[in-house]
Amino acid sequence: MSIALFNGEFLPLEEVRISPLDRGFLFGDSVYEVIPSYAGRFFLLDAHLDRLARSLAAIRLPNPFGREQWERHLGDLLRHNGAEPTDGSTPPDLGLYLQVTRGVAPRDHAFPDVSEPTVLGMVSPIRPLGPAVREAGVSAVTRTDERWGRCDIKATTLLANVLARQEAVESDAVEALLLRNGRLTEGAASNAFVVRDGTLVTPPLDSGMLAGVTRDFVLGLARGEGVPVEERGVTAAELRTADEVWLSSSTRELLPVTRIDGEPVGTGRPGPLWTRLHAAYQAAKPGAVRRQSEAMNHE
Ligand code: PDD
Repeated sequence: MSIALFNGEFLPLEEVRISPLDRGFLFGDSVYEVIPSYAGRFFLLDAHLDRLARSLAAIRLPNPFGREQWERHLGDLLRHNGAEPTDGSTPPDLGLYLQVTRGVAPRDHAFPDVSEPTVLGMVSPIRPLGPAVREAGVSAVTRTDERWGRCDIKATTLLANVLARQEAVESDAVEALLLRNGRLTEGAASNAFVVRDGTLVTPPLDSGMLAGVTRDFVLGLARGEGVPVEERGVTAAELRTADEVWLSSSTRELLPVTRIDGEPVGTGRPGPLWTRLHAAYQAAKPGAVRRQSEAMNHE
């Protein structure tokens, strides 16, 4: 059974009860993170906690915990969900979902005078890319980016993302690529990259999107591999004529997009640069996980 962290306590997820007056429920007045862990150990936790701190500051909600308290709570959450099996088996790969809301108060749009933040943590399995995706890639559709102007905040107010993703699913695609004023911003729940003439291009952080932790990791890997990288605007035409298109996120790592709006991307198969960077990603994971554990043990 899945164990959740709820306001400092660990209990079965099914037993968590959220008040109807919780501002996360009523207003989407809350922020979140999704943090991967592999075999019981965190991947890039520091970067996720840094972004959580930025999101909280942006919505003027005091961070309920210091760094060490977060690490302790989240480490305990993993342990409650099988990070240290007693039978010697390998612990599962888990995505850790973390949400902080402005708490429970009588309904009024303005901030309440007094409220305790609600903190929820829960886990779900992360599965590696199956052979079908590695061989054939995935489909995406394009949609107009109808979201608000603060997509740099990892807010739970995700209705536009939900509608875009649902339209993708109804077109047998896994993601909607969002276009604002004719330029690519990101996917409904992922960042996007294009490859053109051997150069890896991705929209810059100030283009109305989330600063993806995975995006940053992939850019570092690409630079380390000597791949030319450009962070600049990507037009819809450049997206449609790219040699390769990729998506990145904490739960899906690096996905090759081989069809957009029903048309093939490049050759219609995952491209050579994706194959190289996907391999580099898998090779770099153990080291990144180890460095994160060492950093936590040295505090
Ligand atoms: N979403 N852009 C958006 C809008 C996202 O929701 C996400 C991740 C990303 C990728 O960010 P990162 O690499 O830090 O995971 C970009 C998570 C996985 C989710 O909502 O489930």
